[in-house]
Amino acid sequence: MARWIGAFLVMLMAACQATEKKDGDLRATHLACESRVEPLGIDEPYPRFSWWIEDESGARSVRQSAYRILVATDRGALAAERGDLWDSGRVESNATYGVEYGGAPLPSGAACFWMVRAWDGGGRVTPWSAPASFATGLLDPAAWAADWIGWDEARELAVAAADHPDGLFLPPPRYLRREFTAARAVRRAMLYASALGIYETRLNGERVGDDYFTPGWTDYARRVYYDTYDVTSLVRPGANAIGAVLADGWFSGHVGWGRKRDHYGDTTRFRAQLVLEYEDGTREVVVTDGSWRAAAGPLLEADFLMGEAYDARRAMPGWDAAGFDASAWSAVDVTPAIAAEIGAHPGPRVGEVATFTPIAVTAPAPGVHVLDMGQNFAGVVRLRVRGAAGREIVLRHAEVLNPDGTIYTTNLRGARATDRYICRGDGEETWQPRFTFHGFRFVEVTGLDAPPAPGDFVGVAIGSRTPPAGSFECDDGGVNQLVHNIYWTQRMNYIDIPTDCPQRDERLGWTGDAQVYARTATYLCDVQAFFTKWLVDLADGQRKDGQFPTVAPLKVSGSDGGPAWADAGVICPWTIYEVYGDRRLLARHYEGMKRYVAFCAGRCREDLRPPAEFHCYGDWLNIQDETPKDVLYLAYLARSTQLTARAAAALGRAEDTTHYEDLFARIARSFQDAYVGADGRIAGDTQTAYALALAFGLVEGENRARAEQHLLRKLEERDWHLSTGFVGTKDLMLVLAEIGREDVAYRLLHQDTFPSWGFSIAQGATTIWERWNGWTPEAGFNDPGMNSFAHYAFGAVGEWIFRTVGGIDLLAPGYDEILIRPRPGGRIGRARASHLSVHGPIETSWERDGDGMRLDVAIPPNTTALVHVPCTVTQAVTEGGGPLASVEGVEILGHEDGAAKLRVASGRYSFRVE
Ligand code: BGC
Repeated sequence: MARWIGAFLVMLMAACQATEKKDGDLRATHLACESRVEPLGIDEPYPRFSWWIEDESGARSVRQSAYRILVATDRGALAAERGDLWDSGRVESNATYGVEYGGAPLPSGAACFWMVRAWDGGGRVTPWSAPASFATGLLDPAAWAADWIGWDEARELAVAAADHPDGLFLPPPRYLRREFTAARAVRRAMLYASALGIYETRLNGERVGDDYFTPGWTDYARRVYYDTYDVTSLVRPGANAIGAVLADGWFSGHVGWGRKRDHYGDTTRFRAQLVLEYEDGTREVVVTDGSWRAAAGPLLEADFLMGEAYDARRAMPGWDAAGFDASAWSAVDVTPAIAAEIGAHPGPRVGEVATFTPIAVTAPAPGVHVLDMGQNFAGVVRLRVRGAAGREIVLRHAEVLNPDGTIYTTNLRGARATDRYICRGDGEETWQPRFTFHGFRFVEVTGLDAPPAPGDFVGVAIGSRTPPAGSFECDDGGVNQLVHNIYWTQRMNYIDIPTDCPQRDERLGWTGDAQVYARTATYLCDVQAFFTKWLVDLADGQRKDGQFPTVAPLKVSGSDGGPAWADAGVICPWTIYEVYGDRRLLARHYEGMKRYVAFCAGRCREDLRPPAEFHCYGDWLNIQDETPKDVLYLAYLARSTQLTARAAAALGRAEDTTHYEDLFARIARSFQDAYVGADGRIAGDTQTAYALALAFGLVEGENRARAEQHLLRKLEERDWHLSTGFVGTKDLMLVLAEIGREDVAYRLLHQDTFPSWGFSIAQGATTIWERWNGWTPEAGFNDPGMNSFAHYAFGAVGEWIFRTVGGIDLLAPGYDEILIRPRPGGRIGRARASHLSVHGPIETSWERDGDGMRLDVAIPPNTTALVHVPCTVTQAVTEGGGPLASVEGVEILGHEDGAAKLRVASGRYSFRVE
């Protein structure tokens, strides 16, 4: 009987397959594992897969109805359609992201290959996708056999601080090496490497990988990451050499203000494990241990804030290749184990993201040349020079110039930001720093015989390699420049962690800046993995009592973030969940969110008023419009409580949902009792107070309309300029759109007098300034104690630009349901925006045409969109030249808020309003 049923099932399956059309237009593409493409060193025992469905036929309403995933140990198995690690079988589901590996636990250090195919609802099936790969890391801590090695004597080689020309103590980076023999031909060689400090590994004369500042910044006392590299092509049978350069980095270099160093310790360490798999199936492991040798070399110093120096006369050709005479090198110092938890770096690595060649060279003084790279960015200069042996070329970096054309460095405070190259003297020489970065547009070069040729000095921009995920373009040059400036400020500040600024002696993971800007960041780049990493740093910095810190990793500044800063612990995980549908991330941070809300509510008075004393930065850098701190306290507590309620609902915690919804209602009531007058006036009477209260739903009934009027009055009082600081700016613009006054938002957007975004652009800014008045014609530079020209907080307007001008937003997590709602206005006659969501590209393009307009949209498969086509009730709306009523994929919902509301299935649409 069982055999009968089996035979019947086989027949049935064969029949099904026979009726399935393999349609070349329908494909599964963009395969990612843990939101990264072909990642090496995945530490998750059950990694998650994602893909896009693409349909080139132009069909509408494309939905995946089922998928099948195969995971295998080699490509051959996949070619034979065999998943020896896992075959999901056909799964009836429309999930295309967050799909968990469901096989037996993955082995440590394994190469894995996978592919996917999908079915749509109409009997079409994709071909198998191109295979993608990932590799597991050293999943089991016991798999590590390597020691942590360093060379502590190096510190004795450092010029004592008192003798250093700058009074700085800067030990030279350590060169570490050993040789080994590969007994036979190697099939696969994987390198796992980590450090207390930052490192670069070399194998047989080649640099391993192209990452910078590995293994990244964490609270090294608790957590250290390792990196995984496939070095198969670098290892050869016979003699090999492996080496590493180890610099201070965040571990023991200068971090933050006050010229302090050695924040985590003064003994930098490197740890590596090279696993050789021979063709014959045997394995050998080369590890860091006491057999390694150490020396100082041409790198004289390397420090994030101070810069790097290289004496080419001290170069040691061949030090990283086999056969080098290292007899003069010293024994290494060995630490067998450290207390911190070891894990695979979960984020994108830092690397080169762009290059710039100077657009101008000036000579403000004899022998002093200034190169203008044309763009403010974070990174270093790659140089090509000729000079006599011992000739010293000095590069000093700055964001802006003094009126006399010299570089302005006062705002760098204690960061020396100076790189030096000492020539070997044998012809053309090239060099690029590897263990430092500066925030700069201008470079002062001294020590050259002749004026620099622009091509000899290339600006190399360095940042976390978060893939670009959005574009925006319109017919207003100022707004395009603003988006450009926001993008570059993000690139400059997303360097393993989201920092406040990349140039002065700060560069810390300020939580307040990170939370106001996070949503904007998602529009410009794919930051899912980036935040996956940083949210661990933030969780590591959460205090036992539930408070989140001012900065993460927690160093230099304090553990008491206070309103709008500490709330990053709730707002950032929620934002990443919303944008990428990342439930696992939300679940991981959910308890921390709850502890935070409990802490803030717990220290309130009984009637849910803020405590008598608490730390708060206020509406940082507002323009004489200080919002009372207790208003900020309660507004943000309400916000975090509301988001925690939403998180509870998303995670299916019904009891918690009720609890936090109820708490939110009580906080909102307390806010109204305490701060909202009968006339709708809010305590402080500031733009930010109204913006937050309206954005967070803290004014109700008639008072809401009154509060809206007060907000408009406050803007008018400033002659339609904003006065908001870091906290209020983002919500101000969003609220204006929400209350139907995008006309006012556009007015603020187009302002070019102080304070406004346009003001900095009128001064030639290529990035977002920390202060609205970083420089003014009347007063010159603002207080150099705090005046960065690359802080992204005010760039949080990017969210409004993408949502309101571009018209791209979400209605359900992961953009499962999309909102397309462009609101044309201001000087803008046409705009075009795109966003690469987890489902694929979402695109809008609109143009005003007299009283009518054109709106083109693209909605990716497997999603639906609510589209608002701006029009009056009497205007005719067509799609593709035909009346809406008969258009496939479009359901007319009605006319509301000055737009025809349509429910739209996936596909491309071209709407016209006449
Ligand atoms: C940082 C800011 C930060 C602020 C906190 C500044 O020094 O640069 O970005 O949010 O301190 O008040």
